[in-house]
Amino acid sequence: MRIFGILLKNITPKQIEYYSRFSPSPLSIKQFLDFGRDNACEKTSFMFLRKELPVRLANTLREVNLLPDNLLSRPSVGLVQNWYIQSFLELMEYESKSPEESGVLQNFLEILIKIRNRHNDVVPTMAQGVIEYKEKYGFDPFISTNIQYFLDRFYTNRISFRMLINQHTLLFGNDTNPAHPKHIGSIDPNCNVANVVKDAYETAKMLCEQYYMGAPELEIEEFNSKAPDKAIQVVYVPSHLFHMLFELFKNSMRATVELHDEERAYPPIKALVTLGKEDLSIKISDHGGGVPLRKIDRLFNYMYSTAPSPSLEPSRAAPLAGFGYGLPISRLYARYFQGDLKLYSMEGVGTDAVIYLKALSSESFERLPVFNKSAWRHYQTTPEADDWSNPSSEPRDASSYKAKR
Ligand SMILES: Nc1ncnc2c1ncn2[C@@H]1O[C@H](COP(=O)(O)OP(=O)(O)OP(=O)(O)O)[C@@H](O)[C@H]1O
Ligand SMILES: [Mg+2]
Repeated sequence: MRIFGILLKNITPKQIEYYSRFSPSPLSIKQFLDFGRDNACEKTSFMFLRKELPVRLANTLREVNLLPDNLLSRPSVGLVQNWYIQSFLELMEYESKSPEESGVLQNFLEILIKIRNRHNDVVPTMAQGVIEYKEKYGFDPFISTNIQYFLDRFYTNRISFRMLINQHTLLFGNDTNPAHPKHIGSIDPNCNVANVVKDAYETAKMLCEQYYMGAPELEIEEFNSKAPDKAIQVVYVPSHLFHMLFELFKNSMRATVELHDEERAYPPIKALVTLGKEDLSIKISDHGGGVPLRKIDRLFNYMYSTAPSPSLEPSRAAPLAGFGYGLPISRLYARYFQGDLKLYSMEGVGTDAVIYLKALSSESFERLPVFNKSAWRHYQTTPEADDWSNPSSEPRDASSYKAKR
């Protein structure tokens, strides 16, 4: 594998360099939808993807190389790197092929599926690399900031890559989902938000009941400021929305059940779905005891995750279980289409988690990392002294005060 890796790296730098000079082209949900709706043309999609996918891969590959050497040399990080190079090379095969040539479109579609499958385990494999790094070299706040910056961008890139592949394979392949004939690829043009909330709740409830023999109830409320009597709908990727809500429900349920262990009369989890002119917001509120403000930022930090070492077995019960990646990855999904995910906690009582989405599909543009000078600079800065005071545990002794140098 190592030899393979070195070989691949020697062959491709020029092509990677070339493609990384292009910025990715962000699409809006409306553009995805319009393209898929109006007699979607497979050739057009082919022509777009054979350039756009290598551009996105090359941008991220250039950034991987800026990781600290001690992380880059972890075998699991090398493995992920090889997957990316391999996929990049496979796409290069189509660089100058004509879509008119027989079999090209079908082969391209099959390659996309193969690439998607190859990258299935990127997140747990990278997580493994970070855990190994932490075990070997300890926690360093400077490195942690770099890794945080990198992984947020790397995983966003992966979300976007899969979005592009899924649109193509769902529109032109045989894996169309007969259960959702009205979906355009992975997009539901009339996604009923409360229904996704209920689905995510029910799925989390099943897990919760398996572990704890009980689960809090759900109360849903809607405020549609545009059309007060109508259910709130959005043009969105329901699987993304489900992912975020499922993670929030799992967290709220665990906190609630563990805090109210004795009583068994769990306070319900409340969901509030609201629609304004610009934002569609979903608030999930629990009475699970909350998290102190000091720790909130850490919950989104990949390196801080204190979860026990997760299993890399493919048969694991739930993907990502125990990595502590539930919140950070959910926030990336929200941000991917210009939304956000925030936690507001009142320690001692409970937590409100809010998902913000763009109400209009014409404003939901992909938010994509670009590899350029300013990204490069992020990895070069050296740690500096803090420019805010730090509480000291040392006793104050005015006589020892010295002038700053
Ligand atoms: N609603 C909440 N109430 C109290 N604590 C919470 C809540 N949501 C998250 N937390 C805390 O934040 C931590 C991180 O949450 P996150 O979902 O990112 O990871 P996890 O739940 O530990 O693992 P994973 O979701 O990957 O299975 C949790 O372990 C928990 O301590
Ligand atoms: Mg979680």
